[in-house]
Amino acid sequence: MEKQEIRTFGRRHGKKLSIRKSLLMKNVLPKIAPTESEHIDILEIGFGAGEHIREISNANPNKIILGAEPFENGVAALLSAICDENNNIMGGYKNIRIWPDDVRLILNKNNFQFAEIWILHPDPWPKAKHEKRRLLNAEFLNMLATNLDPNGKIIIGTDHWEYFDWITEQVKNSNLVISDSEHKTIQTRYQKKNMAHTDKTKYMILTHK
Ligand SMILES: C[S@@+](CC[C@H](N)C(=O)[O-])C[C@H]1O[C@@H](n2cnc3c(N)ncnc32)[C@H](O)[C@@H]1O
Repeated sequence: MEKQEIRTFGRRHGKKLSIRKSLLMKNVLPKIAPTESEHIDILEIGFGAGEHIREISNANPNKIILGAEPFENGVAALLSAICDENNNIMGGYKNIRIWPDDVRLILNKNNFQFAEIWILHPDPWPKAKHEKRRLLNAEFLNMLATNLDPNGKIIIGTDHWEYFDWITEQVKNSNLVISDSEHKTIQTRYQKKNMAHTDKTKYMILTHK
């Protein structure tokens, strides 16, 4: 980030990590950092505790998947789920890379060509005074567009319908279009919490204009 971006996430740290998770953060995380020489196929932004990135990993054994998440406990939860008792990454999960920080920092530095970008339950920042913290504004959508391959798609899901409508307006001012709004419900920690108390998660699939 050249300029100081407005922070779009809440806490970076939660409860103290267990000894195992601290060791994973110290020893395993650096080994699965994304590198410039490796092509990355799929990005998940804000993977939370990592349920969905593990699903993508299982479904796409020949693809490399990058997850971005600045919340330390979320990163540690994912590491814990993909490592065995000897702290080695389990076979099927060797295609996961982790960026433990604001996704905008890595998107600004690189020129990716993702085939898919996933954003599930982005922080809705429901109070009007916090609207500026919403990640999925037109400027960010354009940043995603420059990192999306010509046939790529961005899948966004949220149970916060007001944020959904707000994103829909932002898309109109971006280089992307909504090409579909049908998607099966994807179960994640936030999807289960349904903090917005709505009937369902709404989805939109974005592609290049
Ligand atoms: C409401 S949670 C949803 C987590 C998960 N996707 C789920 O559905 O359970 C939103 C997540 O987005 C992350 N986040 C917010 N701003 C971000 C940013 N600029 N880059 C990467 N992740 C971000 C937060 O740390 C948080 O974990």
